Amino acid sequence: MTAQLIDGIALSKQIRADVAQRAAALTARGHQPGLAVVLVGENPASQVYVRNKIKACEDNGFHSICDRLPADLTEEALLQRVDELNRDPKVHGILVQLPLPKHIDAHKVIESIAPEKDVDGFHIANAGALMTGQPLFRPCTPYGVMKMFEAYGVELAGANAVVIGRSNIVGKPMAMLLVNAGATVTICNSKTRDMGAFTRAADIVIAATGQRNLLTADMVKPGATVIDVGMNRNDEGKLCGDVDFDGVKEVAGLITPVPGGVGPMTITMLLVNTIESAERTASAAA
Ligand code: GUN
Repeated sequence: MTAQLIDGIALSKQIRADVAQRAAALTARGHQPGLAVVLVGENPASQVYVRNKIKACEDNGFHSICDRLPADLTEEALLQRVDELNRDPKVHGILVQLPLPKHIDAHKVIESIAPEKDVDGFHIANAGALMTGQPLFRPCTPYGVMKMFEAYGVELAGANAVVIGRSNIVGKPMAMLLVNAGATVTICNSKTRDMGAFTRAADIVIAATGQRNLLTADMVKPGATVIDVGMNRNDEGKLCGDVDFDGVKEVAGLITPVPGGVGPMTITMLLVNTIESAERTASAAA
């Protein structure tokens, strides 16, 4: 193996220690940070994510509210619940877990969250703020990847970066953060012709498609930084990413493993966004 591993677990621990300290300081001033997580239905993966988010709140001194609502909840009832949370002064962050059941318009629900509590950074106001280089909340997964670059000294200004995937949750905000940092960014997707021609010219490749073994060693420039956002299962049911880790680790300079790479950073950055929101509220009240 030639690549150095980017350790998302160690970096998460470091950031969470800082978050816990800031949470204690805010609580002492009467502004305990609070996160509300809303889960509609019984999607098994979502249940695990939500449980982990609530546990992270408990472990770091946050107030948390967890709404587990039935799959047949009406859109109107969900909008009403979001409105209550918007007005709850103990809540600094609201996260409605996606995907939502088909009868609910996810876009409408996201737009109903007060932008100053939208710790996912999915509201159009926050997406626009990010696009214009004035982010209020950066979406958690791309924000976590940026923290990894910072921690491992990856130079972004002038770097050629390829983002594979164009979702609103990861691909598009990731590209924006890189653009804002001065990288030259290409966004590829599953239909891109000759993707290797793009990735072989890249100093940084970020794979976020949900397609196993999408990025192979022959597609990576020697010494490149490779970030794997994928969360898939292999034929034996083991968690794996979008990158052919065993092959790519022999070519890359830096690489994230799955598990233990980007995954732990996502919840950590949710805590960071929530504490930032609580700190803004506390200083506005001071
Ligand atoms: N579903 C998968 N990832 C996410 C996320 O980051 N936020 C929300 N709200 N739902 C998700």
